[in-house]
Amino acid sequence: AQSAKESLYVVSQYASAFFVKQLWDTDEGRGIGLSYFKERGFREDILKKFEVGYSPDVWDALTQSATNAGHKLEFLEATGLSIKNDNGKIYDRFRGRVMFPIHNFTGRIIGFGGRTLKTDKNVPKYVNSPESEIYHKSNVLYGLFHAKKAIRDLDNCYLAEGYADVLSVHQAGIENVVASSGTSLTVEQIKLIGRFTQNITILFDGDAAGIKASLRGLDMILEEGLNVKIVSFPDGHDPDSYMHHVGAGAFKTYLEQNRKDFILYKANVLLKDAGNDPIKRAGIIRDIVESIAKIPDQIKASVFIRECSSLLEIDEHILLGELNKMRSAKL
Ligand code: CTP
Ligand code: MN
Ligand code: MN
Ligand code: MN
Ligand code: MN
Repeated sequence: AQSAKESLYVVSQYASAFFVKQLWDTDEGRGIGLSYFKERGFREDILKKFEVGYSPDVWDALTQSATNAGHKLEFLEATGLSIKNDNGKIYDRFRGRVMFPIHNFTGRIIGFGGRTLKTDKNVPKYVNSPESEIYHKSNVLYGLFHAKKAIRDLDNCYLAEGYADVLSVHQAGIENVVASSGTSLTVEQIKLIGRFTQNITILFDGDAAGIKASLRGLDMILEEGLNVKIVSFPDGHDPDSYMHHVGAGAFKTYLEQNRKDFILYKANVLLKDAGNDPIKRAGIIRDIVESIAKIPDQIKASVFIRECSSLLEIDEHILLGELNKMRSAKL
């Protein structure tokens, strides 16, 4: 007999095929789901590649279809696809949403993100699969299965926040992209990227939350010994919206021309608020040296100290002194 864990993969695959069929072959799916994707500018080949789908806006369409096909309720519940309420009534977790299946890096479906089509602020924008025996969200990067070959070949991984960002960057012809999708970036996710490349380029949203997350993310990446660059987007844009705004060609050029190393990026972000205030500037310089102090490789760190020194016009030896103080404080 099939193991319980295997049954969770099988029922997830069934659900994905169900959502795909709903999107392309039903009036509701085409009229609501597919037209939504089209309005956002997604091409059909990208929608098919990522196996996006649509969950009908009724209580238990998937649960009915799957149990009729012989799948056990037990496994539908274990993946979170079906939920039993207090009265024992079973309903679908995902209803009336466009569906993004989440693959593990060997290509098996382990969970879903479902985006609402409503603009109502009280409805959560995304509903996601819960943790299960096959889905541990802190260990998963959305899009890795479709990106891993390109990440290796190009020796760089673009790291975005969301599902739509991954699809749109692909649509621009850039395949080495993944998303942390909602969870703030984890050490496990960085280690997973590290199996394919030592180079990460952060593409987080151009809003306050995205900037904050990128500062935290770059420190974590440095601490894992990987190299990090950042491309930031104009306020209010994320990679998805910006790609559709400027077009594929201009988007590619933008990524190439706006890739900053972390020192320049931090200096740009932090100095914006500091103006000429010398005390604030000193704090920022210390903040940058703190990031450099996270780099395990001492030679690499000293190269960044030199860059920091020339960029911010501070004596290199003073910076090295600070670096060593921070290092010994950590030991
Ligand atoms: N997210 C989530 N739950 C939410 C909001 C966000 O899980 N309520 C995750 C999703 O994976 C989402 C990512 O965080 O893709 C980034 O969030 P956000 O920038 O708000 O969404 P976008 O990906 O930009 O979504 P869209 O373009 O569809 O509006
Ligand atoms: Mn497990
Ligand atoms: Mn955002
Ligand atoms: Mn976004
Ligand atoms: Mn977006």
